[in-house]
Amino acid sequence: MIQDEKLSQAHNFLRRRIPYRLRIGIILGSGLGVVRDAFHSEIAFPYKEIPYFPISTVPGHRGRLLIARRGRTRVLIMDGRVHRYEGYSFEQVTFPIKVMHRLGIRSLVITNAAGSLTEWLVPGDLMLIEDHVDLMFNVSPELSGSLVFHKSYYSKRLIDLAESIALSQKVRIRRGVLVASTGPTYETPAEVEVARKAGGHAVTMSTIPEVTMCHALGISVLGISLITNMAAWHGGGHREVIELARKGSSNLKRLITGVIDAM
Ligand code: HPA
Repeated sequence: MIQDEKLSQAHNFLRRRIPYRLRIGIILGSGLGVVRDAFHSEIAFPYKEIPYFPISTVPGHRGRLLIARRGRTRVLIMDGRVHRYEGYSFEQVTFPIKVMHRLGIRSLVITNAAGSLTEWLVPGDLMLIEDHVDLMFNVSPELSGSLVFHKSYYSKRLIDLAESIALSQKVRIRRGVLVASTGPTYETPAEVEVARKAGGHAVTMSTIPEVTMCHALGISVLGISLITNMAAWHGGGHREVIELARKGSSNLKRLITGVIDAM
């Protein structure tokens, strides 16, 4: 079935079941699910019930779409995401973004766990993503009509807003450049050196496909990385990253709720 028909089916399924107008979305990365506790969940759609929605296969990702309220604001939350390393194509990984766009989402907060490439980012820190280097080399015919130059992939307005919220909430925050490798293996020391030389400050295995699709569709993005480890560290693997993300996510929760309240 062609992509557009799949998109219509997923959109129709959700549109019939969501009685609200939604403009803001949030994607919660590995171990960052506690952020949802700041919201009152009203409706939950397991990904497997939404036509053609890709399903998370890795631990730490819940795999459901939530309609959640905070005060007078309703947001769409992707509680868990899928990755290229799970075998999904760029088109599949970005399918939820296209569905969100059809539902009316025009601003998206995208989070991820990331490894630090620099001494001024340490585990527990939050990095506002200013720019990125795509070492996944995402290509797709779906992007060919969207070659826009001189426009940032990350909203300056939302970065400034997040920074002012962080200041008032006394949450330590940095700005930096995100690199994404495909994974699923963590980077070798030599790959970390490449990521550093490419200008990166943190490295992850997600986010850039979604941000690229947002850029193509005109969705404003606020990207936030939670630093869980120094890149190429000698710690554990995915399980440890999830544990570290859980521990460090209270600041992320404060920052996101502050931003949503101010939007
Ligand atoms: N590398 C890639 N992705 C990550 C890392 C890392 O060190 N930590 C958390 N996600």
